[in-house]
Amino acid sequence: MIPVIAPSLLASNFLNLKSEVEMVHNSQADWLHLDVMDGRFVPNISFGLPVIECLRPATNKPFDVHLMILEPERYAEAFKKAGADILTVHIEACMHLHRNIQQIKNLGMKAGVALNPHTPVSLLHHILHDIDLVCLMSVNPGFGGQSFIEHTYQKIRELRSIIDKAGLQVDIEIDGGVTLNNASALVHAGATVLVAGNTVFRAADPTATIAQLKTAG
Ligand code: DX5
Ligand code: ZN
Repeated sequence: MIPVIAPSLLASNFLNLKSEVEMVHNSQADWLHLDVMDGRFVPNISFGLPVIECLRPATNKPFDVHLMILEPERYAEAFKKAGADILTVHIEACMHLHRNIQQIKNLGMKAGVALNPHTPVSLLHHILHDIDLVCLMSVNPGFGGQSFIEHTYQKIRELRSIIDKAGLQVDIEIDGGVTLNNASALVHAGATVLVAGNTVFRAADPTATIAQLKTAG
């Protein structure tokens, strides 16, 4: 199983955003992962709509937008307009998750649900058939460059089994602490999408690192 690779722009050099996105565009990366933080759901503020809108013409690769914000329903339409293809909201931030997912789908985007490290995959039971992707956070959201939480493997295996038994085609995306050392094990456990920030952007050769991640599995 060849994984989808989604470099996370959070770890890039913001002074050179254009060339960083062009590097991703010319690489074997499949998606560009964009981390939006509001300083409320997570204790950090990253970038938002105007930046995503500016980057949109630089590549036709899908924009995988990870919203680490409260009340994401207030901004779903704006992120669609800014160029999001996949919009992921946190289960912990959604009072009306089903409604939020319907809104994202009605806007013509793929819908993802992200789970913090402590959140059980069993909470997805009545929403799994409505979504395209589950993002399993393998670090506490808010910052790049943190160490992978090993317990994530158990969650991947559990979710893979639930998805397969139900005959669904839902992506399992792993976000946080993905490296060249754990990429293969993650894919073998059942992950289909690997997000990588520091591993890609802090590498001596980011393009070659993306190619190496692509061989995981
Ligand atoms: C963390 C973000 C991640 C982050 C991953 O809150 O959701 O996407 O950029 O960074 P690395 O791969 O460096 O752990
Ligand atoms: Zn992310």
